Amino acid sequence: MQKNKIRKMILVAGARPNFMKIAPIVRAIHQRNSSCEMRSLFHRDQKNQKNQINYKLVHTGQHYDYEMSQAFLDDLDIGRPDYFLGVGSESHAVQTAKIMTAFEEVCLKEQPDIVVVVGDVNSTMACAIVAAKLCIQVAHVEAGLRSRDLTMPEEINRILTDTISDYLFTSCEDANKNLRKEGISKEKIYFVGNVMIDTLLRFKAKAEKSGRIKIAEKDYALLTLHRPNNVDDRKNFKNILVALREVSKRTPILFPAHPRTQKQIKAFGYEKYFNLLELHSKNPINPKNSINLSGPLSYLEFLNLMANSKLVYTDSGGIQEETTILGIPCLTLRENTERPITITEGTNTLVGSDREKILKESYRILNGNGKKGKIPKFWDGKASERIVNILLGRPYEPFKPES
Ligand code: UD1
Repeated sequence: MQKNKIRKMILVAGARPNFMKIAPIVRAIHQRNSSCEMRSLFHRDQKNQKNQINYKLVHTGQHYDYEMSQAFLDDLDIGRPDYFLGVGSESHAVQTAKIMTAFEEVCLKEQPDIVVVVGDVNSTMACAIVAAKLCIQVAHVEAGLRSRDLTMPEEINRILTDTISDYLFTSCEDANKNLRKEGISKEKIYFVGNVMIDTLLRFKAKAEKSGRIKIAEKDYALLTLHRPNNVDDRKNFKNILVALREVSKRTPILFPAHPRTQKQIKAFGYEKYFNLLELHSKNPINPKNSINLSGPLSYLEFLNLMANSKLVYTDSGGIQEETTILGIPCLTLRENTERPITITEGTNTLVGSDREKILKESYRILNGNGKKGKIPKFWDGKASERIVNILLGRPYEPFKPES
């Protein structure tokens, strides 16, 4: 590995959960570049200018609806991608193949020193494979997370991406251990913290002012649901909805639904479980016995709603982490998680799609006995700065596993 020679990077984002992870890396690069520029102006030399990082942002187009993509680029100050591959939704094989074919052309043209991928979506794995096969270094941000559930496409993406990465940037100690157990050399593992939390901490104050949706604080629960195991399975989906409708007698539930979930609601004829949320009205929530459904929300709107909620139900990965930082109790509608630290240290509890478990844990929280949690190590808003420093070969005390 040529740790000191990285000057040209490609950053990859493709699907909604990638944008909040790539945004702070883009920002850390800009901060580093403007400090080089200042130094070169001050010292009247060209050397500092040469130290600038040249990066290209590639958006694969795995997510393409305004609410799933552009709204995030706008909210998070990411800027216009240099390349938009426009791959769209397909089967996993076709989507992965399309990303690989288009991304190979970009790599051949740009000849980067390194490709930086984040998270665990199909774009992450596809671009990592292309880079590795062209002998371009790969950095994986959010490496080492494992659910041990190979029925999740994301678990396959995580394992494959980690196996071929040169820099594995981790967000928690269990990820370091997972990678070591899989035989990854400790020289490649860097425990830097959680980039998604960099974004949350940066935008929390701005999110508070973004309230398009006027709802009384702490007077509602928030729900997200999109995993195939929950929304493509008629029985699991119904179990969850029946339990949550029961809970909604105590507190209204807000449900900004992913496009695939909206499709499944129609396909299963489950519209009867919902009240349609009137986002712009004065009283958008129907407080009585209802799950209030809307389309996907922007990052700032969703963060604001999450920060002011009584409790959050989710099957997403990132929301388990965000609720831990916000100190909001989270019930995860899955049997497992690749983020166990949110259970051991944070506010998260696994409830699966089991009606009794969902009700028991919901009432515990609504009765004021929700988990409080604490902030995990390095979830401090500085993960991206650490990543950029490491990629530039600057001094850093990397994670040193015992064995
Ligand atoms: C993907 C990620 C998942 C992540 C999720 C967040 C993989 C394997 N999965 O799942 O890890 O948690 O994104 O959103 O990469 N669709 C639209 N508009 C869009 C995007 C998708 O309508 O902008 C619809 C598609 O038509 C398709 C469905 O959503 O029916 C699935 O989209 P896809 O990107 O394949 O996977 P997600 O389920 O979104």
